[in-house]
Amino acid sequence: MTQNAISAVILAAGKGTRMKSQLPKVLHKIAWQPMVSHVLQSVYQVQRVERVALVLSEDMDNVRQVAGAVPMPARCALDYVVQKERLGTGHAVKMALPALQGFKGTTLILLGDVPLVQAETIRKLISKTEDGAKVCVLGFYAANPAEYGRMITSASGDLEKIVEYKDASDAERKVNLCNSGIIAVDNEVLPELIGQLKNENAKKEYYLTDIIAIARSKGYACRYEVTEESEVMGVNSREQLAQAEHLLQQRLRKNAMENGVTMMHPESVFLATDTVFGTDVVLHPHVVFGPGVRVGEEVEIRSFCHIEGANIGDHAIIGPFARLRPGSVLEKQVHVGNFVEIKNATLDEGAKANHLSYIGDASVGQRTNIGAGTITCNYDGFRKSETVIGKDCFIGSHTSLVAPVTIGDGVIIGAGSTITEDVEDDAMSLTRTEQKVLPKKAKEYREKRRKGI
Ligand code: UD1
Ligand code: MG
Repeated sequence: MTQNAISAVILAAGKGTRMKSQLPKVLHKIAWQPMVSHVLQSVYQVQRVERVALVLSEDMDNVRQVAGAVPMPARCALDYVVQKERLGTGHAVKMALPALQGFKGTTLILLGDVPLVQAETIRKLISKTEDGAKVCVLGFYAANPAEYGRMITSASGDLEKIVEYKDASDAERKVNLCNSGIIAVDNEVLPELIGQLKNENAKKEYYLTDIIAIARSKGYACRYEVTEESEVMGVNSREQLAQAEHLLQQRLRKNAMENGVTMMHPESVFLATDTVFGTDVVLHPHVVFGPGVRVGEEVEIRSFCHIEGANIGDHAIIGPFARLRPGSVLEKQVHVGNFVEIKNATLDEGAKANHLSYIGDASVGQRTNIGAGTITCNYDGFRKSETVIGKDCFIGSHTSLVAPVTIGDGVIIGAGSTITEDVEDDAMSLTRTEQKVLPKKAKEYREKRRKGI
């Protein structure tokens, strides 16, 4: 077996008409991340991939931006190739050929709308071409083959051709071995195969899938590999987008549970691909994780929390009904309770904010207790300002802390205060008008009202 460098072409120039969207299809998101980013991530995880050509149409600067932001291994280069006219998947690959010139070894072709494929499966496909197949196609047995291309195999188990649904005979349509669209080709024969494509078919397009029959006519070995449908379903409609989301969430949840996370009701927990959990985390039903969340060990997250861009320390208790926004850093044993929103704020070890608070652009010291209804007033309509609260403080209920403001260590703030000035260590501060008590006044008032006075 030879082990040459690998190149990849990702097709993403299609409009995605069936999505009924202004957005290019490959920018639609699954687990918070555009489809094209999923494909790029999987490709980058395949060792030896050194060049990736992403085929786009002219009006897709937004796709370039998204693709360029996906972290790429140092050995790799990403080229953008423009396909001016969308003349089919074969034509799209033709546009990418100059970017692959001089590359020996296997070229992978992937589709931007087949987002769930994993690096491990791509590697299997590569090893088949390195074992002598000129072309190797990743197929799957479809529960409902619908409009997928059908893979026609010979008695000896080789791949003979792929027939697109619109061009297939009734007998061919009965075949449920379908083309995932992911194909590995020996780079040396790719230009020759692409060069012979014709568009004499139902869609008047240059189908990439016709390279199989062309390769067979030249006596080249064409093989296939089979994987689960859940890994290679194609997304052409919003309904399929929702199916892909469902499948990816299932995969992410399974993975989390295998790594020691308890989920009371897995189906109601939504994860991002980069969610990281320590062991013995317990998730109650209905918890949503956006991107960029790290959860420590033995953390309990109660129902109806929405968490993104947050770092949660060991033994923390979050929720129910908490919202952690980007930049939330909760150290060990922090408690964040119901209807508390935290943004760009650090809560040190043992700090608590258990009820009805907004803590934004702030730091809260160790063991400090934030009373119910406390608000950091971080925005004056023009700028954001910071609130610094020391350790071992007691912030009374319904306090407004008007930033910028610094509260020292060991401070007590009386309930209902509006704090605009800094408070020194160990001081007590409160801002209230004096309480009046008018004896019998309530009774007098009621009597007057009853008499209609
Ligand atoms: C394609 C395959 C089909 C396979 C299915 C798997 C062909 C002819 N058909 O059908 O066998 O079962 O995927 O999901 O290959 N694209 C371009 N330029 C074009 C046309 C398409 O870049 O001119 C891109 C699209 O952006 C998309 C991908 O190629 O990401 C596939 O195109 P799509 O129109 O979705 O093909 P399918 O009908 O799904
Ligand atoms: Mg498709």
